[in-house]
Amino acid sequence: MKATAIAPSNIAFIKYWGRTDTGGLRLPANGSISMNLSGMTTTTTVEFDPSYSDDSITIDGAEDSGESARVTEHLDRIRATAETHYRARVVSRNGFPSGTGLSSSASGFAALTVAACSAIGLSLPERELSVLARRGSGSACRSIPDGFVEWHAADTTAGSFSESLFPPDYWDICDIVAIVSSEKKDVPTTKGMQQAATSLFYLTRLNHIPEKIVRIKDMIARKDFKHFGELVESEALEMHAVMMTQIPPLMYWSVGTLQLMKAVRKWRCDGIPAYVSVNTGQDVHVITEKTNAADVAARIRQEPYVKDLIINMPARGARTVDTHLF
Ligand code: PMV
Repeated sequence: MKATAIAPSNIAFIKYWGRTDTGGLRLPANGSISMNLSGMTTTTTVEFDPSYSDDSITIDGAEDSGESARVTEHLDRIRATAETHYRARVVSRNGFPSGTGLSSSASGFAALTVAACSAIGLSLPERELSVLARRGSGSACRSIPDGFVEWHAADTTAGSFSESLFPPDYWDICDIVAIVSSEKKDVPTTKGMQQAATSLFYLTRLNHIPEKIVRIKDMIARKDFKHFGELVESEALEMHAVMMTQIPPLMYWSVGTLQLMKAVRKWRCDGIPAYVSVNTGQDVHVITEKTNAADVAARIRQEPYVKDLIINMPARGARTVDTHLF
């Protein structure tokens, strides 16, 4: 009863910020659109065994990573669905820094969901896997389907699932993540999101999201990179405007974040089509087309605050693999 899964993190072009429920269902207040990231994956092995008396969870070599309670809660959902009480051994490895706002919870809970369901013998359709992953971490549901993905907002748990819009090889978009600091984020996303509605701009933002989703899907369908990039960047700034005007205010950027944002603007004036996005952390996603990726990566490397780069192309969603971690 052992299985291993690999899952990508994802970058949201239209972002999820705020929930409609407080009961742990993680129903988003708005739909979102994302792309899976090839260079940022989590691999997880899960083994259920009747002889285990408790769950044991090791993440990146640490037994007490601070995430164990959330992982056990998620295993409980899967045990309830499979109608079993077997405890599990979970070993998980992130191929990129975790806890710094690079969405390791998205790849982590997507990999955990697929590995645990497979280990326990639950064969669920992709739509149901995404609903389950959503319960662990909202954005994890977008890491289940392939490539470019839409997550639907809905009033019911079954209605809030993700589906693929286009496969990974549809459009050669490159997301170069510039790591500007290894500082852990001080306010977790789940907590920060609870205060979203205290921003005066929150409702205005929500009212405009359906129209933005239509626009971005159309730009992806037409591969209109310029307008796509402009919308992606303004959407990220809008989400951060809500965060900064929440009570208490949330400020995830560091000096390096802002420096790089300004540098990318300058490169655009020089004719380099690149745009930024930022999640709940200080690192910057610089989005460009593959044809310009080498040039943009070289420019990013020269920026004083940049410590490392992760180069991502669109990727497949979560899937099982044959090689186990134990
Ligand atoms: O899935 P969570 O709870 O980590 O929320 C992710 C929220 C953002 O990364 C800020 C936006 C998004 O849609 O990915």
